[in-house]
Amino acid sequence: MPRIDDQVYTFTFYDEVGEKYEASFVVNEYHSLMELLFDKYAEDWGDCRGRAWCGTCHIEILDGIVEEAMDADERNTLSKLTNTVKTSRLACQIPVNSKLNNLVFKILKDN
Ligand code: FES
Repeated sequence: MPRIDDQVYTFTFYDEVGEKYEASFVVNEYHSLMELLFDKYAEDWGDCRGRAWCGTCHIEILDGIVEEAMDADERNTLSKLTNTVKTSRLACQIPVNSKLNNLVFKILKDN
């Protein structure tokens, strides 16, 4: 019988060109959502390696809630991007935990 923290969770995301992906993970498999996506799915991402400085891991939450509060670095970096929306977040600031289950989001390219 699997331990409770070995449970596999899923989320859905759309890449920069609108392609849809289903992703799976276990809790604490990666430090952040950015690292998970970079390792398994995305290329050329996370230029600052998760320090909330570069904005290349910008995502828009489409369905679901990210409960982790935004810190000053994330808020500051998002304020410099031209395509932010109300539900913008930096994936590198989102921990990989069970609360991401069924989350739906879109990767945004800065323009
Ligand atoms: S990886 Fe640079 S802001 Fe997230």
